[in-house]
Amino acid sequence: MQSLNRGIRTYALRTMRMSEFQKRSLAELSERYCVAFRPRPYHPAEAFGHDPVDPPVEDAEFVLEIGFGMGESFVALAEANPGTNYVGIEVHKPGVGRVLGELEKREIKNVRIVWHDAIETVGAMFAPRVFAGVHIFFPDPWPKKRHHKRRMVQDGFPEFIAPIVKPHGYVYIVTDWAEYAEQILAVFTGSESFANEFGGFAPPRPWRPETAFERKARAAGRSVYELFVERTYA
Ligand SMILES: C[S@@+](CC[C@H](N)C(=O)[O-])C[C@H]1O[C@@H](n2cnc3c(N)ncnc32)[C@H](O)[C@@H]1O
Repeated sequence: MQSLNRGIRTYALRTMRMSEFQKRSLAELSERYCVAFRPRPYHPAEAFGHDPVDPPVEDAEFVLEIGFGMGESFVALAEANPGTNYVGIEVHKPGVGRVLGELEKREIKNVRIVWHDAIETVGAMFAPRVFAGVHIFFPDPWPKKRHHKRRMVQDGFPEFIAPIVKPHGYVYIVTDWAEYAEQILAVFTGSESFANEFGGFAPPRPWRPETAFERKARAAGRSVYELFVERTYA
């Protein structure tokens, strides 16, 4: 298993009351939409077998979203792109519950969820070169210096994520934390596994839906920084 962060968690589980909708969705829909963590090379196409998507799963692209939170952008993107299959990883129970309920309500079929630590999941679960895109929107910034070691994107992250990204696939990371943004840009600039056609931060992708985190950041006067890099293979 590949590892990053030496076992240090990149999240703090928030205690948040779950709504009845979230509780019921978790109880009734997990079996349909969640894929259990498994430490073996796994192609998520396996998880769509019982719920065929159009185009057929062999022809579809797979996109991974790490830390989808309450799932605003995750669900909106999946709904807007029914021909792409989305896999989301999250540990926050109310977020998983909310997304499950939204999937059923909106009759979205092209989504599967891994309710598990993303570092463990990325390091062990997926077959190589599975994903055409990886999204990490507003990763926890861990602003205090003594907490920087908990940041998901840090030294070694590009090489950690690279194996599961297809040739010419992309990694798209967005943050409103300026100093974390510089760190994210620096670690990817130093990586031979990714190319950055923008030479620095990218203009926003017009297809990325806005999230509550983003609205809050903008209202507080913070800028939003975007990194969009392409996987290179020698
Ligand atoms: C600041 S929130 C952003 C949520 C969402 N992407 C958005 O833009 O609204 C970061 C999310 O990443 C999740 N997260 C952090 N580390 C994680 C990990 N190792 N595995 C799974 N989820 C993680 C947290 O639970 C949290 O929901």
